[in-house]
Amino acid sequence: MTEPVPWEAIYRTRDEPSLSWFQTAPEPSIQLITETVDPSSSSIIDIGAGTSRLADALLNRGCPDLTIVDVSTTALDVVERRVGKDDRLTPIVADVTTWNPGRTFDLWHDRAVLHFLGDTELDAYRAVTQRAVSAGGHLIIGTFAPDGPETCSGRPVTRYSAAELADLFADGFTPVSSRGHLHTTPNGSGQAFTWVTLRRRSA
Ligand SMILES: C[S@@+](CC[C@H](N)C(=O)[O-])C[C@H]1O[C@@H](n2cnc3c(N)ncnc32)[C@H](O)[C@@H]1O
Repeated sequence: MTEPVPWEAIYRTRDEPSLSWFQTAPEPSIQLITETVDPSSSSIIDIGAGTSRLADALLNRGCPDLTIVDVSTTALDVVERRVGKDDRLTPIVADVTTWNPGRTFDLWHDRAVLHFLGDTELDAYRAVTQRAVSAGGHLIIGTFAPDGPETCSGRPVTRYSAAELADLFADGFTPVSSRGHLHTTPNGSGQAFTWVTLRRRSA
């Protein structure tokens, strides 16, 4: 069995620019989010936020209710220190596959988390989205594309097409749009991503 990725150790010991997923500007996330909702009047959750600058970008756009979830305390501490004290930001250290959200959000964003999940974790992840995304709310998910990397942080990942991601969430979510995006890592290599936006149907 493959060992899980030691996320906490990674964030404790490595500089941000040495992480393949590092971005100075959270694209296409911010573009996809602003095409979908008005951040200044939406509750937004970023799953597996890491140290991403998406939190800064959303707070700068007036987001009144932003939750960031990650298994790594160190990563979320970095974000909190960087954005400063802000009552609009709720950091939660949790494994999304065992987490009970206890509320709903207008928009769920995940960049480069879902592709690490095996079948059982994926079922749990989907169950959490059913509870956490409000009727009419949205999922925006980015994973490695079929022509993207086969591994990340030394672990195999599952690569998805837009149709495969839409199929995963067909029970409850309707596809709105999809696109590809080539992420340039800090060392200059390209990683092909698939992005989908899905809308939660009313019960
Ligand atoms: C490849 S990084 C992407 C980080 C961030 N989304 C970004 O785009 O910069 C994956 C992130 O997901 C977090 N993560 C992995 N599995 C998770 C899980 N089951 N629940 C919550 N966070 C998880 C890791 O700690 C890490 O920060």
